[in-house]
Amino acid sequence: MKGTYILAIESSCDETAAAVVKNGREVLSNVISSQIALHTLYGGVVPEIASRKHIEKINPVITEALAKAKMSLSEMDAIAVTYGPGLVGSLLVGVAEAKAIAYAAHKPLIGVHHIEGHVSANYISHPNLEPPFLCLVVSGGHTHIVMVEDYGTYRIIGRTHDDAAGEAYDKIARAIGLGYPGGPKVDALAKQGDPNAIAFPRAHIEDAPYDFSFSGLKSAVLNYLNIEKMKSRDAAALTRHGVPTGGDAEGTEACPDTFSDGLTKADLAASFQEAVVDVLVTRTIAAAKAQGVSTVAIAGGVASNSALRSRMLEVGEANGMRVVYPEPILCTDNAAMIGSAAYYEFLRSNVADLTLNAVPGLKLGER
Ligand code: KG4
Ligand code: ZN
Repeated sequence: MKGTYILAIESSCDETAAAVVKNGREVLSNVISSQIALHTLYGGVVPEIASRKHIEKINPVITEALAKAKMSLSEMDAIAVTYGPGLVGSLLVGVAEAKAIAYAAHKPLIGVHHIEGHVSANYISHPNLEPPFLCLVVSGGHTHIVMVEDYGTYRIIGRTHDDAAGEAYDKIARAIGLGYPGGPKVDALAKQGDPNAIAFPRAHIEDAPYDFSFSGLKSAVLNYLNIEKMKSRDAAALTRHGVPTGGDAEGTEACPDTFSDGLTKADLAASFQEAVVDVLVTRTIAAAKAQGVSTVAIAGGVASNSALRSRMLEVGEANGMRVVYPEPILCTDNAAMIGSAAYYEFLRSNVADLTLNAVPGLKLGER
């Protein structure tokens, strides 16, 4: 039987991506052009540069996605695109492109919520996964506990009050001199450290047991680092015959590898990660119990974190739950996940018209 083939486009942040997905679960191609090297020069994503790069890359990426799938545009059943949330200039490139293709090739157009895409990456990696389940969505821009009631039907159970988990990883990585994007680098460094070396705070939000806050943790790590930098500056000044030399402006000097208390940069990374993973896992499993679901999924860039994956598996299984997560390439931004989410919207005839616009602050469940 002929399947349903969707050409999906994702350009909400710093990856230009296109994919061909069959029946929402089978990836025929998944092309990702990353701008990471470009933005690394600036320590983070520069929106203006990102949208210009998307314009350059989007046509070659789509052509490659169709070629790798060995299919033509005329064989597609629909064109899908992320229309929010994200950087407005970046989103606009994908949305304009998808509308142009849909119009020229007479294909239905499907607008996809970026978070719905991240959740749906789990459908690709776990072909037998079906709602209802609870999903922890953790990325550079989002930290949400989402109840997936049905395909396309979501209820937000918990959210962050300040930084997203990935954002906290990126900021800490920058402070300890690991560069951008920080998540994978902190993950790797933490493997050499002691997660219990430093007891960093876990914030609890009154009357919101499934919400998160990472700003206190971030400040605690930065305070620890600043004190250590000051101590090493004082020590350096003293070795120069006790005459203070002034040193660099505060915070600009390199992070020492070993601190005055004998702990290392790896211990700091591991202890920060432990604080993040602890709250993410504890609150997600508590929410799953409260919702009465037996399946927990993780999604988003931070879902590729090795400590988060193993802890969620361990605690979830100890509570009799099935824990799933996508393979790493489907955790960070990609278009295959958009093609999966779009399939279920297509089945429900949830198609857009040519007035579809980029919505940078799009809420989940909003159309
Ligand atoms: O989903 P994503 O590609 O983009 C957004 O929608 O934000 O997520 C990117 C985020 C970045 O903050 C990156 O540092 C983080 O995911 N990340 C990780 C890991 N891999 C990527 N964080 C922790 N551990 C990782 N292994
Ligand atoms: Zn994302």
